[in-house]
Amino acid sequence: MSIIKVENLTKIYGDFFALNNVSFSVEQGEIFGFLGPNGAGKTTTIMILITLLKPSKGRAFVAGYDVVKEPSKVRANIGYVSQDITVDDYLTGRENLKFQAHLYNLNNENKRIEEILNLVDLSDRADEPVALYSAGMKRRLDIACGLINTPKVLFLDEPTLGLDAQTKRRIWDYIKRLKNELGITIFLTTHYMEEADILCNRVAIIDRGEIKALDKPSILKGHIGDEVINLKLEYLSEAFMDSLKKLQGIKEVKFHDTLCSIKAKGAEGLIPKIFELASIHKVKVESLSSKKPTLEDVFLAYTGRGLRDILSDKEKGKIFGKRMRRFRY
Ligand SMILES: Nc1ncnc2c1ncn2[C@@H]1O[C@H](COP(=O)(O)OP(=O)(O)OP(=O)(O)O)[C@@H](O)[C@H]1O
Ligand SMILES: [Mg+2]
Repeated sequence: MSIIKVENLTKIYGDFFALNNVSFSVEQGEIFGFLGPNGAGKTTTIMILITLLKPSKGRAFVAGYDVVKEPSKVRANIGYVSQDITVDDYLTGRENLKFQAHLYNLNNENKRIEEILNLVDLSDRADEPVALYSAGMKRRLDIACGLINTPKVLFLDEPTLGLDAQTKRRIWDYIKRLKNELGITIFLTTHYMEEADILCNRVAIIDRGEIKALDKPSILKGHIGDEVINLKLEYLSEAFMDSLKKLQGIKEVKFHDTLCSIKAKGAEGLIPKIFELASIHKVKVESLSSKKPTLEDVFLAYTGRGLRDILSDKEKGKIFGKRMRRFRY
């Protein structure tokens, strides 16, 4: 059963399409990921689904309710964890959760708070001020706040942005627990390919307000081929390039200066054949690496741009911006 259904969703600012005709559905109990670079439209989609932003066109249903016509029913069924950390540094972990519980008018809040603290492994630090927490602990408390009303769907906007690799992995474990132990459907946005790959049952690749591809990570990667082979040559040879393209099993050959990227499918023993051709054409191969396709390759194939290239500087700016905001306290 689809717990989220989105039909031709469009958001226009002036003449700019932040979202352009986006359609997808999310099944109950799955972890569904929106993977895309800065400005792709990830937060815009979440804001519409959690009823904080009105679409310009199109419709969306969450837990069976129309996000425009029945916003309070949608809100009763969802939890939301924003892209920025929102827990209060001056309160303890437990006080933050109590505050959330009061906003929802919950009865029996102490029991619920104990359960959630346990779930995110913060019980033993619950009575310390959040100012003393690490970034990963704050993020876990943020997620805990999103769970206070026992939501059917949890929206996580970039849940691991700016965290180190080890902390990221721990957060992934908690997210998996929410799905496996509580059966919560999770809609998350990310621009980390590894996160989308490891965590999500299905991933939509979004760029410039449009969904470019949507499927299980393994199927998306399967479209690229079995292998991506990268060669660094001493110099470029047209004849070598043409002969490579004719090899059986090679799907695509792309050159950039003396770098050559080959996508291959069902090509047993391809590497010796590449060396053989290089020798015939007297081309020196300076280095060769071969890897299974990643979601980065998928992103590149569908958008013509590398996700890492697009992100590098902007991401640094965003993390810096976030720190600056914290210093203002
Ligand atoms: N209120 C607004 N007015 C004009 N443009 C906006 C507004 N809000 C968002 N946008 C634009 O819409 C586009 C999508 O923004 P959105 O925040 O959804 O991106 P995102 O995928 O979440 O990016 P990030 O990874 O940086 O969080 C961006 O180009 C953004 O500048
Ligand atoms: Mg965003």
